Amino acid sequence: MEKFNTYFITGGAGFIGSHLTARALSEGKRVIALDNFSTGSIDNIDSFKSHPYYEFHEGSIHDLRLLKELSQSADIIFHLAAAVGVELIVNDPLNTIETNIRGTENVLHAATKNKTPVFIASTSEVYGKSEQFPFKEENDIVLGPSYLSRWSYAATKLVDEFLALAYSAQRELPVVIARFFNTIGPGQTGQYGMVVPRFIQQALAGESITVYGDGEQSRCFCHVSDVIEAVLRLINEPKAYGQVFNIGSQEEISINQLAERIISLTQQETQRQQRVKITHTPYEQAYRPGFEDTVRRVPDTSKVEQLVGWQPQYKLDRTIKDIIHSLVSAVAA
Ligand SMILES: NC(=O)c1ccc[n+]([C@@H]2O[C@H](COP(=O)([O-])OP(=O)(O)OC[C@H]3O[C@@H](n4cnc5c(N)ncnc54)[C@H](O)[C@@H]3O)[C@@H](O)[C@H]2O)c1
Repeated sequence: MEKFNTYFITGGAGFIGSHLTARALSEGKRVIALDNFSTGSIDNIDSFKSHPYYEFHEGSIHDLRLLKELSQSADIIFHLAAAVGVELIVNDPLNTIETNIRGTENVLHAATKNKTPVFIASTSEVYGKSEQFPFKEENDIVLGPSYLSRWSYAATKLVDEFLALAYSAQRELPVVIARFFNTIGPGQTGQYGMVVPRFIQQALAGESITVYGDGEQSRCFCHVSDVIEAVLRLINEPKAYGQVFNIGSQEEISINQLAERIISLTQQETQRQQRVKITHTPYEQAYRPGFEDTVRRVPDTSKVEQLVGWQPQYKLDRTIKDIIHSLVSAVAA
């Protein structure tokens, strides 16, 4: 039996936050959500607003007083609020650093009074340019230089991990940290550079799909429902506290193959005849001169599997179809 009844979710109007909210409400939990709508959206929370167990606060994780107040009535805090998306990170590194470091410190500080357990969302980006595949939690980390602002996201998330582990060791705060690999699903927007919804939106609009770089870089995409299942299993397992876990799919695909797959599935699902083209845009043009991408990002998920028996259930094609259907119905609505 799950011991947590009231979830406080920072970044609750975001992609993962709103899926977590839906799952929590469907299981009879109470949800207190906080979001400043920087990348989240009102559409993501529309269907919960009238739910008797749902409470939404528009505000920021920079507001320590508000965080303390909202933490008071929570049994657990899911800290998902962050500056995310490559485009945003590259264009506004200061906001990234302030939100991801000061914001997380505020959340941990607010949780300390009642020792409220905190789940921290970290990222596969922290592995940086490491070539020790697949990535294991105890691997060394190889980040690029600080004058390339794209690395600020990885560096700040790594500081969040250090902070959370220090709160765990020195303040006895129960924390669980997960490094999410690429997480996708219905409701995610391509607006901030997320590759799968961007490609699907382009394919649905009949535009050519723009692949950044040579497209030979590969990723593993996991359905958001699988990710949430892993998170919930971990927070309910006492042995997970004070530890870091990879959460992701091991189904690896190059970005060129992804574009091809999205083109055929979009054609199949919408019965369109017209086949869109794939074009390649150099990174310097897509982002800025000197931009570095990681060539591969594959998780070793044996740690989470051994502790809580988790494995992803969704295959990539099914996830892509889910996203196509959600985008088609959003346009039709
Ligand atoms: N989606 C992925 O593939 C992925 C991969 C690795 C890690 N993550 C992590 O998972 C978490 C959720 O990501 P997501 O994909 O749902 O992105 P998202 O952008 O949809 O969600 C982040 C939410 O945080 C909110 N936010 C940002 N700054 C805030 C602030 N100062 N105060 C309050 N709210 C604020 C945004 O408005 C947004 O709703 C993030 O911490 C992200 O770093 C996501």
